[in-house]
Amino acid sequence: MAIEFTEAELEEFKKIQDKYPEKQASLMPLLWMAQNKWGWLSTDVMRYCAYLLELPLAHVEGVANFYTMYFKKPVGKHHIQVCTNVACMLNGGEEIYKNFKEKLKIDNMEVTSDGLYSLEEVECMGACGMAPVVAVNEDFYEHFNISDIDEFINRFKA
Ligand code: FES
Repeated sequence: MAIEFTEAELEEFKKIQDKYPEKQASLMPLLWMAQNKWGWLSTDVMRYCAYLLELPLAHVEGVANFYTMYFKKPVGKHHIQVCTNVACMLNGGEEIYKNFKEKLKIDNMEVTSDGLYSLEEVECMGACGMAPVVAVNEDFYEHFNISDIDEFINRFKA
């Protein structure tokens, strides 16, 4: 499959781009659009984004690698991110992450064989006051209770 946005998507991106003083400054929303379309940011997808913004591929990769919200590997339908940084760690984040690994039988950035779940250990998600924090795709679950893991996983089945 060719890595290209449709005309409508390019049009949509043009509107976003117009909000920025320079077109290169719209890299983050472009990466977000690309991830929504292709599910993750492969090198080919990042190369296409670099081409659209006339940026070096290394610059695009640098931005994509810096932010955990951009996926550099394929992820499951439900991508579970568990924060284990200080505030979350002090509130059980590491145990929660370990528990998810055991229940899902996958390691960091792996996908379950049915493609339903993937798991990622992440740094601070900016919600330290609500620690421990777990995210599934774009939804945050604050004050996550480790005893809810089974019910939580079942909730996302199918
Ligand atoms: S340390 Fe977990 S959200 Fe900040």
